Amino acid sequence: MSGPRLVLVGPMGVGKSTVGRLLAERLGTGYRDTDDDIVAAEGREISEIFVDDGEERFRELEKAAVATALAEHEGVLALGGGAVLDPDTRALLGRHPVVYLSMDVEEAVRRTGLNVARPLLAVNPRKQWRELMEARRHLYEEVATVVVQTDGRTPEEVTRAALDAV
Ligand code: S3P
Repeated sequence: MSGPRLVLVGPMGVGKSTVGRLLAERLGTGYRDTDDDIVAAEGREISEIFVDDGEERFRELEKAAVATALAEHEGVLALGGGAVLDPDTRALLGRHPVVYLSMDVEEAVRRTGLNVARPLLAVNPRKQWRELMEARRHLYEEVATVVVQTDGRTPEEVTRAALDAV
């Protein structure tokens, strides 16, 4: 099967890019991130896309970026935290090895705090995290081949757990 060796999904701030880079290094392959692809193609930050064009437009760009990356990339691929909201994207993911990096709400609040670069968390981080997790947890679980819990683990430990599990 062509396509990524491994796809990483999970909420923002869970460590997809840090762990993704470590995994790529261990597997001797490339690393790619669909958020970076969108920023490069648009020539502006994700937060600017949300403010200028709205979330719906961002989700269209994201859906296209994920489909392209799944078709082109053969290494480790990290998806933005909301990519799994799209049913077509979830169907495409069904053909690939997908690692869901999970964390609980309190860990999420601790790690991301009031990060204004993350437009979905600007007002009340704890409440918004709880809602995001409730809305998305089952979607991450639906696409995941394996789930790796990250609470209290270093990126190195998470990387090792993911490699052991796939
Ligand atoms: C989002 C997660 C972000 C980014 C955008 C929306 C989300 O990606 O795509 O801010 O809906 O959870 P990361 O998970 O890489 O931070």
